[in-house]
Amino acid sequence: MRQNQSGLTNGNALKLGIFGPNCASGRTYSTLPERWDASWEHNRQLAQLAEALGIECLVPIARWKGYGGETNPNGANFETIAWACGVLAVTQRITAFCTVHVSLHHPLVAAKQMATAHHIGQGRLGLNLVCGWSDDEFQMFGIEKPEHDARYAQGEEWWSIIKRIWAGDVPFDYPGTYYPLRGVEGAPRPYGSQDPLMMNAGSSPAGRQFAIRHSDIHFDAFTTLDANRARIAETKHLARARGRDIQVWTPVGIICRPTQQEAEDYAQRVIAHADWGALGYLADMRARDERVVPALAGPAPSDGPSLVARRVLARGSYCAIGDPETVANSLCQLHAVGFDGMGINFVDYLAELPYFAATVLPQLEQRGLRVPVGQQGL
Ligand SMILES: Cc1cc2nc3c(=O)[nH]c(=O)nc-3n(C[C@H](O)[C@H](O)[C@H](O)COP(=O)(O)O)c2cc1C
Repeated sequence: MRQNQSGLTNGNALKLGIFGPNCASGRTYSTLPERWDASWEHNRQLAQLAEALGIECLVPIARWKGYGGETNPNGANFETIAWACGVLAVTQRITAFCTVHVSLHHPLVAAKQMATAHHIGQGRLGLNLVCGWSDDEFQMFGIEKPEHDARYAQGEEWWSIIKRIWAGDVPFDYPGTYYPLRGVEGAPRPYGSQDPLMMNAGSSPAGRQFAIRHSDIHFDAFTTLDANRARIAETKHLARARGRDIQVWTPVGIICRPTQQEAEDYAQRVIAHADWGALGYLADMRARDERVVPALAGPAPSDGPSLVARRVLARGSYCAIGDPETVANSLCQLHAVGFDGMGINFVDYLAELPYFAATVLPQLEQRGLRVPVGQQGL
């Protein structure tokens, strides 16, 4: 039983995380003057606000290189384990994830860094494990990008080494293909001898199978409601067949305004200020990877806003744009197809989260999907 993360494992039916606040511009590729300034002061305020509102977690993006264009989105960003340590030190209940690239962090170093952060947060650290996809990052590190599925094979070794260290099953030799290790040890174990929750966001067959075998949460891409309904059911079924429970989450970009018209006008403003240079660079990087995220590769979705809006506002993820009732309906629809949680982003997180919380959260509570903050067993 993971006592310090109970809100994520057995709390609200519809769970919410704040996604991407450690990066300049967050998940929005826009030249708007109010685009997210990812200063530490903003991150601290956002973490404390999210906690006060009963949001379950914060999930950072691991990115080592900006996307260029006019504004270089994500070019400035806080390294996620160090960021999580800071967030955990200034909060009491919320879970902070770190997002860690398998091939860029040696597992022995990562195991100790994460155990350290887990102690600082008294059990509130989570891990978003990513295997990497962009050529420019691998090149910057001077590492040859492994073939797609080999990245997940490396991820299997990486994760099994870390789990073994955390289990206290030391010393051990690990004759791996990627990690031929001798006499491995590492202490302390995670806080309370409970491992951090682990999620991964691979949407290819190999990425999804990795989640089914190992992850507590699969942070999956959105395609269409019908396609996701079937896919989520299968993901949960396959995990259960292995004796595991898995949650499935998806990222959601949000524009919530008092009227539908105001929200749509603002979405148009975001698109009018799209940073096409950065978006083009991102699309080029994606296209060069062997497997492309379905949301970006597939036909324009039949559900919800246009693909252009989704790309500019949330990198191709699902977007909920509208008045509070419309936004609440959208989140309920996602929950109804099987998503347990959503990692939400706003253009300006700090300016927009309070209105979302005041108007949308009560509707989710009325529909029985969340309980008011004071009554949460976090
Ligand atoms: C919600 C979400 C969050 C992600 N976060 C990161 C990240 O922070 N850093 C990163 O390099 N890749 C990130 N990715 C990319 C995934 O790790 C993965 O490479 C991508 O979804 C393609 O899937 P595949 O690796 O199975 O082909 C994210 C993807 C999703 C859907």
